[in-house]
Amino acid sequence: MDDARTPAPESPGSGSENAQIENVSDTALMVAACRALETERPDGLVRDPFARRLAGERGMAIARASPIPEWMCFGVGTRARFMDELLTESLANGQIRTVANLGAGLDTRPWRLALDPGLDWIEADFPHMLEYKAARLGDVPPGCRLEQVATDLDDKDAQVRLFQHVGPRPALMITEGLLMYLLFSPDMLRLAAGEWKSPVEKFRPEDHLFGQALLGAVEEAGWKVSAKRTYAREGAAAAGARAASLLEASKKLGAIPEAGRDDISGIYLFKHA
Ligand SMILES: C[S@@+](CC[C@H](N)C(=O)[O-])C[C@H]1O[C@@H](n2cnc3c(N)ncnc32)[C@H](O)[C@@H]1O
Repeated sequence: MDDARTPAPESPGSGSENAQIENVSDTALMVAACRALETERPDGLVRDPFARRLAGERGMAIARASPIPEWMCFGVGTRARFMDELLTESLANGQIRTVANLGAGLDTRPWRLALDPGLDWIEADFPHMLEYKAARLGDVPPGCRLEQVATDLDDKDAQVRLFQHVGPRPALMITEGLLMYLLFSPDMLRLAAGEWKSPVEKFRPEDHLFGQALLGAVEEAGWKVSAKRTYAREGAAAAGARAASLLEASKKLGAIPEAGRDDISGIYLFKHA
């Protein structure tokens, strides 16, 4: 792991004056801030009562300093809402007994969703991130059986240990805002500009997969798409009356986003074939 991706021990959340993203874990503060801002607007796409305390002043400052806060909040809000929908549908018949959230960051689903109290929920992230979260949320009991696993998901052995730990029972694995460092679709790249693009460019590995190649790799490994919500289609519909201000925000970037035919950005549910 290189230095840029290695979190400093005191971060995230150190120094409310610093609105720069300095390591990959700072992106968790930023997305928590976006969920807080969404929660506070009447037409917000997600309701997360814990987001503001988790984002802290630094997360709020990072989000506000973004060149396109409107787009970022819409993107994070849409992603959270679609993930909530697919997760709730997947858990409805009670067959899945374990959820593993990889790169869980400051996600609060175990606290904010109505879950079966007997469901096992595993959150995996860097140790400092889990410690920061526990310090800010430790007084609130989760609605299911929560376990937090400190790990480096770049480490293949650590991945194997985590999957062994999940065990053989039917499980659902979530990654939200983690694969972004491995995948960024061509259409999203066209939309992204300047500083907004840089956190992704800065922290993702050189051998990342791109667009359809990522879906292809998942399918080659024996997984089939069982449900999806794309940002281009369902996301645009979710924007509703916000579409006009989003277009205004993208004019400031000098680009109007176009949904290309092969834009795969969105939320996917895979089942093993
Ligand atoms: C953009 S945040 C998303 C957090 C959360 N899933 C959400 O949507 O709010 C990315 C998260 O992935 C974690 N992460 C990135 N690379 C990781 C790695 N190699 N091992 C463990 N966690 C990692 C970061 O610490 C951070 O919490």
